[in-house]
Amino acid sequence: MASKRELEEFREFLQVHDNPPKFRYITKATRRAWLISCISVWLFIYFVYANQQLWLPSGDIFKNKHHHNHPSDPTAVLKRCRALEAKVELPSDFVNRKRSDRFEEGTRPILVQNARIWTGRKNGTHVFKGDVLLDKGLIKSIGYLSGGSLVEVYGTSLRVVNADGAWVTPGIVDVHSHIGVESAPYLKGAADGNSYHGIIQPWLRSLDGLNTHDLSYPLSIAGGVTTALVLPGSANAIGGQGFVMKIRETGEKSPSSMLLEPPYQINTSFPNPNLPSRWRHIKHACGENPSRVYQGTRMDTMWELRQAYNKAKQIKEKQDSYCSRAFARDWHDLGEFPEALDWEALVDVLRGKTKVNVHCYEAVDFDGIVRLSNEFKFPIAAFHHAAEAYLVPDLLKKTYGKTPAVALFATFSRYKREAYRASEFAPRILAESGIRVTMKSDHPSAIDSRYLSYEAQQAYFYGLPENLAIASITSQPAEVLGMGHRIGYIKEGYDADIVIWDSHPLALGATPTEVFIDGIPQLERAFVVEKPSNYQRRPPVPNFDKDAENAVVYEGLPPLQPRRSEAGSTVVFQNVGTMFQQRNGVVEQIQIAQGEGSGMIVTRNGTIICSDQCANLFDIGDANTKVINLDGGSISPGFVSYGSPLGLEHIKLEPSTNDGTIIDPLSRQVPKILGDFSIIRATDGLQFASRDALLAYRVGVTSAVTAPVSTGFYGGLSVAFSTGASHKLEKGAIIQEVTAVHIALNRQNKYSVSTQFAALRRLLQDPSEGEAGVWYKKVISGEIPLVAAVDSADIMATLIILKKEIELRNGKQIRLTITGGAEAHLLAKELAEANIGVLLPSKPFPMSWEGRRILPGPPISPRTALTELIENGVSVGILSQGSWEARNLPFDVTRAAIDSGGKLKKEEAFALGSTNVQRLLGVQIDEATVDLVATKGGDILSSSSRVAAILSPVREAVFFMDNN
Ligand SMILES: *[C@@H]1O[C@H](CO)[C@@H](O)[C@H](O)[C@H]1NC(C)=O
Ligand SMILES: *[C@@H]1O[C@H](CO)[C@@H](O)[C@H](O)[C@H]1NC(C)=O
Ligand SMILES: *[C@@H]1O[C@H](CO)[C@@H](O)[C@H](O)[C@H]1NC(C)=O
Repeated sequence: MASKRELEEFREFLQVHDNPPKFRYITKATRRAWLISCISVWLFIYFVYANQQLWLPSGDIFKNKHHHNHPSDPTAVLKRCRALEAKVELPSDFVNRKRSDRFEEGTRPILVQNARIWTGRKNGTHVFKGDVLLDKGLIKSIGYLSGGSLVEVYGTSLRVVNADGAWVTPGIVDVHSHIGVESAPYLKGAADGNSYHGIIQPWLRSLDGLNTHDLSYPLSIAGGVTTALVLPGSANAIGGQGFVMKIRETGEKSPSSMLLEPPYQINTSFPNPNLPSRWRHIKHACGENPSRVYQGTRMDTMWELRQAYNKAKQIKEKQDSYCSRAFARDWHDLGEFPEALDWEALVDVLRGKTKVNVHCYEAVDFDGIVRLSNEFKFPIAAFHHAAEAYLVPDLLKKTYGKTPAVALFATFSRYKREAYRASEFAPRILAESGIRVTMKSDHPSAIDSRYLSYEAQQAYFYGLPENLAIASITSQPAEVLGMGHRIGYIKEGYDADIVIWDSHPLALGATPTEVFIDGIPQLERAFVVEKPSNYQRRPPVPNFDKDAENAVVYEGLPPLQPRRSEAGSTVVFQNVGTMFQQRNGVVEQIQIAQGEGSGMIVTRNGTIICSDQCANLFDIGDANTKVINLDGGSISPGFVSYGSPLGLEHIKLEPSTNDGTIIDPLSRQVPKILGDFSIIRATDGLQFASRDALLAYRVGVTSAVTAPVSTGFYGGLSVAFSTGASHKLEKGAIIQEVTAVHIALNRQNKYSVSTQFAALRRLLQDPSEGEAGVWYKKVISGEIPLVAAVDSADIMATLIILKKEIELRNGKQIRLTITGGAEAHLLAKELAEANIGVLLPSKPFPMSWEGRRILPGPPISPRTALTELIENGVSVGILSQGSWEARNLPFDVTRAAIDSGGKLKKEEAFALGSTNVQRLLGVQIDEATVDLVATKGGDILSSSSRVAAILSPVREAVFFMDNN
């Protein structure tokens, strides 16, 4: 039986094929009779036509004669043609849904009472104190809900959580992730992030590589992440389709069941046109990556993109003209619908149904993509990484359709040329230009998404307003994904994805105490540390208006060299709240006179000459005297960076800006000219005044220890230097020429771990040969430390045994330091007994198999690796893994101290980033002359302070950071 719709179609069909004026000259009755018989005839023909395969002779000759130029199923064709035009929109009954499509049977209803709820409403400014009820995978209601009356409704199945005034936000939405496709730990068998089979591959799908067993899932959830857009990598100009997924495990345990509102195309190339369209996502990349992978240039990449879009456009036009003939019932010789399985995703971009996410950094690249979008008339959902976006907001606004959002890192920069002009002020500048800002992870290779809230915290610190900073990881990314109707906000009827926090979400170290995805609690048992009550409030932040302005004025390269005080001048610090000093290898607080409520410190040529009763030492009116009010801030020893090639590189991926890699004699032939046992000194390759070094200096990381860059077993000799110096010959530039001997033992080496140990044993047993012998002799006599980069507990255990063996032979203690130390906590006691210190990264992540057994810390484990080691008596410091990260050391130390739950005294926290690092790396300095950091609005560990000046007795000056 033909449906009403089909009859209507036939009516239209008839109208087009007959001559309508005829009807005017015949009576109504004949007309009706004529019409009915006509319809019957046409119905008969249609029926025959549509079913001929079933009951007509099906010889090829017959088919070709009557069939080959006509669509086999005109009704289906018309449906499909209509579906092509349909826009992506919500099914009308969506807002009234009573149960989530993702609801898992047996999930208990949950009432979160007494919460401070960031709803996302009113531009992210709406915070409601009350209760939230979660049921059937949805946020059922928000308000003042009495547990008692709900128990009447739900019975004992209702779980009541008293949030006790805690902050509650929507689950974090990560707009750029490779979770599950780039595996953690990294294993070749699950490296599915990039295809290298072509620069244009819109047909690929990240879903096809989605590993459900990744170690990242529980860790990211522990950081509050609930949803991620999983994109292919950026090797290709068009790398393939991305998929939005909730990162919890499902009952079905399949990748597909993790997807959120997946497009129907995942099951069938051309889905039932009656189904509503759903958003699709595609990844594009421009700039350096496709150029590198395909040995091309930006010109090649843009041409490839234009060709691809031209192809898609041609297919779209073919379909459109096909459809306009179909709508006109012009079936003659129409043929079949022009399908293109390989290009259909790109055609859907042109139809406005696929959100385009472009990895793109520079003005030149935005320009190309903006022109592309206008040439082929498609919008861009977001520019990702977008290091220069803040310099060209007007260009972004020229994109076809809506202005794209910008997805950023907070401080991850300068790792490649196109990221060189990135600015920590970009989020605020873009927001001020009216552009949607989201912070993103690029998990796992860039930022661990567990720390996405940290990205928002830093964006906030550097000036992104509170409402937008929280929105930048919740509602804004949800909107970018086209999912703002169900995630990213706390509203009735939204998915029950919420996070309860142990502090204000923008307070450094904020940690979830509960995470719900689809109403399902994700933290089996959350370990929560004590935090002071002021952590519940919006953290005050310094003013960076001038710095943000300069970032734009200088097009991303504002001068970073601080202003130096005049020789012989006096600098007076007033209102000094606290003062810390380095003495006998530890940091201690010293009392400062608080006469008339204000501590005062007087310096000359960078040296403190008075800290008590100083008023008679200077004359405020004197032109040679500068007075700085620290507003209760602090003076404390500078931090020491270690762990990256800071000082040996400007731009990681640009060899011509770097010192390069040393030769590992274990895996490669050493050129004759070096002799058999040479050892490389980092000091010889130092480059001063890199932006990473100066940025570090400006936040109080006044020195760094750097070892030569090695990709193998054999390291070299590290150097300690001033991050503020302009060149090596400047007084105080080199703090210590050689501090320690470095090696690395791991399973990425060309030769086995046992071979690496054989080499090390030889170097330690018989250190007589060459220049290396000189330094290894110092190692076995305990004069300088041996620093071993090791993650595996098994390798550490062997090292402990070898150390004992060598010590027994020589009767002297070896000073051994482990760096990296992902699994060091497993041997905390043994490391303490062997007197081995450890330098740890601030954010543990199971990047490699040999380092996968991390101790994650709250909320997953009560202790962090750091507190576990300290409690066992191991000397510990914090390292930075990339040069760009050196400037985050004060934040990282603060976070480590917060995570310890108050177990660390302030002095001990300082030591993590200063004295411990020096001692473990063999830096011996005259403590009376270390650089001191003067901070305004709190001490260096306060997230509301900023550095005002650095006092350098060695460089004989005070350096001012205010840029005035
Ligand atoms: C949203 O908030 C930001 C920052 O607080 C503000 O600059 C902007 O004007 C607000 N937008 C709207 C539409 O209210
Ligand atoms: C795909 O097919 C599976 C199995 O039939 C079904 O469970 C799922 O809901 C389908 N998904 C979509 C988006 O059509
Ligand atoms: C400070 O430096 C100037 C110029 O180098 C020198 O003349 C003066 O003696 C120094 N003063 C102190 C107190 O060291």
